[in-house]
Amino acid sequence: MAFYGSVGAQGYASMAPRTIAATSYAGATSVGTIPGYAPQVAQPFAYAGQPTYAAQPTYAAQPTYLPATYAASGISSLAPRAATVLSVGQPVNMGFVSQPVIAPVAAPVAVAPAEPEGNFKVCVVGGAGGIGQPFSLLMAQCPLVSELAIIDLNVAMVPAEGVQADLSHIEGKCKVTSTVLVLNEDKAIDKAADALTGCDLVLVPAGVPRKPGQDRKDLLNINCDIAKGTVEACAKYCPNAVVALIVNPVNSVVPAMCELWKKAGLDPRKIVGISTLDVVRANKFVQELTGMPCSIPVIGGHAGKTILPLFSQDPAGASIAADMIPALDERVQNAGTEVVKAKNGKGSATLSMAYSGARLGKAVLSGLAGVPTTECAYVESTVVPGLPYFASKVVFGRDGVQEVLPIGALSAHEQKRLEELTPILQAEIADGLEYAKTRQFAK
Ligand code: NAI
Repeated sequence: MAFYGSVGAQGYASMAPRTIAATSYAGATSVGTIPGYAPQVAQPFAYAGQPTYAAQPTYAAQPTYLPATYAASGISSLAPRAATVLSVGQPVNMGFVSQPVIAPVAAPVAVAPAEPEGNFKVCVVGGAGGIGQPFSLLMAQCPLVSELAIIDLNVAMVPAEGVQADLSHIEGKCKVTSTVLVLNEDKAIDKAADALTGCDLVLVPAGVPRKPGQDRKDLLNINCDIAKGTVEACAKYCPNAVVALIVNPVNSVVPAMCELWKKAGLDPRKIVGISTLDVVRANKFVQELTGMPCSIPVIGGHAGKTILPLFSQDPAGASIAADMIPALDERVQNAGTEVVKAKNGKGSATLSMAYSGARLGKAVLSGLAGVPTTECAYVESTVVPGLPYFASKVVFGRDGVQEVLPIGALSAHEQKRLEELTPILQAEIADGLEYAKTRQFAK
C-alpha cells in the first residue's frame, strides 16, 4: 500500500503543512490517527482540487498530485478511497512523496496539522454581476473572511443591497456590506471609503464582459478605465491590500494597473492578475481524459495563444500521448469561447470563474495569514526575459506575491509554444504600459 502527499513536486513544496490525502490502490482504506490533533472529515480524493469551504477552509482548494508510479502503473480507473494522515505531530513535507509509507489500518479519517486562521476584510468590486455574485457567495463562506464588502453600480443586474441582504442570511461569522455607485456620476475614490478602508484583499470582477466575435483587445480601454477607478481608490483607502484583477484583457489591464500602482509609490507585489481559470480548465480536461486528478501549471498570459498549459509537468498530463497534446492545449486556450458561444451572447464564464477566483483569493488570504500558498497567477515577473508580466507559479505570503517561481523544464512542444506566445504577450503588455504612460491615479 502506498501513500502520497497531496501536493507535489511542481513547486508546491514550499507550502505549509496541510491535510494529506492518500489512496489505497488495493481497495482497502487505511488511516493513521495522530494524538493531539482533532480528526476532520475526510475529503474524498476526487474532491481534493476543489474548495470545500465548510470543512477545509483552504487546503482542499489545493491541487493534488499523483505519484509518477500511479500513472505508470496504468491504474487510472480505481476510485481512490480515503484521506489518510502521513505525519505525526510535525509539519508534513509537502514535497512529492515518492517512497511508500506504511500506515496503520483504522477508520477513514484525515487530519490537518495546521490551518490558516484569520479575520480578513475582502471587497468584491462588481459583486452584483455575473461573476461577482457567485464569487461573493464563495468568499462569504471562506472561514478566513470576517467582512465582505460588495461594490457595484446602480445599473447592476440586481441591486448590490439585494446581494448583501441575501448573503447576510448565510450562517457564519462574515458580515456583509454593500456600496452602490451611480453610473457616470460616482467615483469609487469619492464613495467607496467605507467599503475599502481596512481591506486585505480586493477582488475585481467589475468590467464589461466579452461578447461573441469581440476580441479581448476591444475591451482594453473601457475595462482599463473601470479598473483604474477601483484601483486608484484602493491606493487611497487600502494601499496594503492585495488587489486581484479578473477584468479582461488581463494581459494588458494588469500591467496598466501595476505601473500606475508603482507610479503612486506602492508595492507591485500587491497587484495580481487572476489566471486560475486556465489552470482549473486544464486540470478538468486532463482529468476527463486520464481519470486522474492533476495539477497542470499554466504559464504565459490569460488570452488565446498566450495561455500555455504545461502538461509535461504533471504525472497525469505527462501520461497523455504526445499527438493529443496540441488539441488539448488549444482546447484550454479557447475554453472561454466555448462558454461565450454556449451562453449565446448572454455573458462569458461566470461560475467557473467565480470558483477559480475564490481558489486564488483563498490562496492569497492563506499567505496573508502566514501559510505560504502557491497558485499560478499573472504578475510582474522576471522569470522569462523580455516578458515583464507573466503567469507562472507564485508563492503568496504575508505581503502578497512572496516569490515568483521559475517555469521549470519544458517539453519540445511547450518550448515552441513559449517562443510563439512571447511576441503576442509582449504586444499585449505594451498596450497596458501605453495606457499607464499618460495617466496617473486621482488622489
Ligand atoms: P457582468 O456584466 O455580469 O458583471 C460586471 C459587474 O461589474 C456588473 O454588475 C457591473 O455593474 C459592475 N461594474 C461595472 N463597472 C463598475 C464599476 N466601475 N464599479 C463597480 N462595479 C462595476 O460581467 P461578468 O460576466 O461578471 O464579467 C466581469 C468581467 O470579468 C469582464 O471584464 C469579463 O471580461 C471578465 N472575465 C474574466 C475572466 C477571467 O478569467 N479573467 C473570465 C470571465 C470574465
